[in-house]
Amino acid sequence: MAFGLRILAPSLPLMLALCISLSQAKIEILVGGKQIVWEIPPSNNTLNLWAERTRFKVGDVLVWKYDLNAESVLQVTEKGYDRCNTSNPIKQHKDGFTKMELEHSGPFSFISGTQGHCEKGLKLIVVVHSEAR
Ligand SMILES: *[C@@H]1O[C@H](CO)[C@@H](O)[C@H](O)[C@H]1NC(C)=O
Ligand SMILES: *[C@@H]1O[C@H](CO)[C@@H](O)[C@H](O)[C@H]1NC(C)=O
Repeated sequence: MAFGLRILAPSLPLMLALCISLSQAKIEILVGGKQIVWEIPPSNNTLNLWAERTRFKVGDVLVWKYDLNAESVLQVTEKGYDRCNTSNPIKQHKDGFTKMELEHSGPFSFISGTQGHCEKGLKLIVVVHSEAR
């Protein structure tokens, strides 16, 4: 018991911080807003227009909904984004319902893993702000 308390005491501030951060529920943001899902958009910049209107903070969770037989989500470098290069993604998801936490501030680039779809506008850059909510 005494042993247990000695372990516990120094970590109290840490536990408190943990409780506070847990009580701030993570915000989940559906990619494309309500109507648009992760599929070839009506025009090339539809998704980025949505992203420009949306505020992203560190810790927010992006959610993609899509047909897993037709689409996938690749997180890529900015170079990979510019070239629609699907060959060496940072992360790859193809479960039809992808959640990804925005773990740091700065830009995140995503493209479709399906041949030709990124070129048709299925790509997205999200810029994450670091200020507290
Ligand atoms: C999107 O851009 C590509 C390449 O720039 C072009 O070939 C295509 O026609 C564009 N699509 C639309 C819907 O504007
Ligand atoms: C795509 O990425 C791969 C791996 O990073 C690279 O070897 C290849 O040259 C790239 N292709 C283009 C068209 O940039």
